[in-house]
Amino acid sequence: MKKTVLDQIPEHIRALVGYVPGKPMRQAQRESGKTMIKMASNENPFGPSPLAVEAIRTAAAEVNLYPDNDASELRQALAARHQLAEEQIFIADGSLGILDVLARTLLVPGTNCISSERSFISYPLVTRTIGAQFIDVPMKQDTYDLDAIAATIHEQTRVVILANPNNPTGTMFDADATEAFLSRVPENVLVVLDEAYSDFAEYFARQRGITYSRSFEYVRAGRQNVLVLRTFSKAHGLAGIRLGYACGDPELLRIFARVRNSFSISVVAEAAGLAAIRDENHIRKTVENNAIGAKWLMERFAEIGIHAVPTSANFIYFTVDEDAGAFAHRMQAEGVIVRSLAPWGIPNAIRVSIGTPEQNEIFFRALKKLTRQAVTP
Ligand SMILES: Cc1ncc(COP(=O)(O)O)c(C=O)c1O
Repeated sequence: MKKTVLDQIPEHIRALVGYVPGKPMRQAQRESGKTMIKMASNENPFGPSPLAVEAIRTAAAEVNLYPDNDASELRQALAARHQLAEEQIFIADGSLGILDVLARTLLVPGTNCISSERSFISYPLVTRTIGAQFIDVPMKQDTYDLDAIAATIHEQTRVVILANPNNPTGTMFDADATEAFLSRVPENVLVVLDEAYSDFAEYFARQRGITYSRSFEYVRAGRQNVLVLRTFSKAHGLAGIRLGYACGDPELLRIFARVRNSFSISVVAEAAGLAAIRDENHIRKTVENNAIGAKWLMERFAEIGIHAVPTSANFIYFTVDEDAGAFAHRMQAEGVIVRSLAPWGIPNAIRVSIGTPEQNEIFFRALKKLTRQAVTP
C-alpha cells in the first residue's frame, strides 16, 4: 500500500500529547452564556503594565519594519537590571520559546531531561518532541525532591529543569537547597532554574525570612551549567505578548541564538518589555495584592475544610472530592474558570490563580456553593 505524508511522521511525534491551555475567556463565555472571570492561567488580574500598553501603542507605528533580531535595547536594560553582561542574556518569545530552543540545542534521541512529577506540563512536551526521554521524579509532600532528582542523574542526562516556585503546586525551595543540589550535579548537565514566578516568590520569602534565590550569582560567577529563566507573562502582565529571557553562559547563549527562529521577538514585544521593567508600581501592586489574596484564600479554604497547599506563587493548588474536570466544568457554570489538573495526571486537584479581592470573593462563593460544605462559625 502506498504511504501517505502522515505515515512518515515519526512514532515519538505521533505519541505527543499537546499542551492543554486554560480555557480562553471568550470560549467559556460562549459555552456558559454568562460573564466569566478567568482564574486558570496565572495571569495578572490587574492587566498589563499601563506603561507597557502606552509603549505598545507607540511601537504599533513601526510594525512594517522587521524587529531587531537580538532585541538589543531590552537585552541592555535587563543586563543592567540584573548586573549581568549583555552576552549573558538571551531573549525569546516566552519561557516556552527558550525551552524549545534549549531542547533542540541539547537533546537528541537517547539522552534524557529530568524534572519532577506534577511540574510544568511543557517540560515533557519539549523533550519528547525531540525524541529524547523525559524522567519525572516523584515529589515529597507536594514539593520537589531535590535529593531524588540528583540521584536520578546519569550518563545520558543532559538537562535538569527545576520550576521554582513549581507550577502547579506553588511550592518553592530556597537558595541553600539550590546550592546543595548544584553541588551534586556534574558539570556537563545543564540545570535550568525556571523562575517564572520569581517576583511573587521573592515577596513571600521576605515575609517568611528566607532567601528565595541566588540564581544570578551563579551566572555572574560564570557557572556554565546554570541557566535562569524569567518571563514577562506573570507579574508584568504581558502573557499575550510572548516575552521571556534566559540568563547564562555567553557561549551557550550564542548557540541558542543560531537555533532560535529569526525575528521571534516582535517590535511590539520588545517595546512592551522595556516599559514593563520600569513599571515598579505595577509590579509592587501586583505582588502585594497577591500576598494578601493568598492569605485570604488560604483562610477561606481552611474554613470549609479543603486541603490547599501554601503557595509561593500567584496560584493555589487544592484538592476536591470529585473528578477535577467535572469540578472545573461546574465552576465554569458559576462564572469562574479554574484549571483542572487532570491533564497533569492528578485526577482530583485544581489550580486557581489568585485574583483581585473581588474575583477571589466570587471564586470562593462559587466554591462554597459547589462543595456544599458549611462554613464553621
Ligand atoms: C513554571 C513555568 N514556566 C514557564 C511558563 C511559561 O511562561 P511563558 O509565558 O514565558 O512562556 C509558565 C507558565 O505558566 C510556568 O508556569
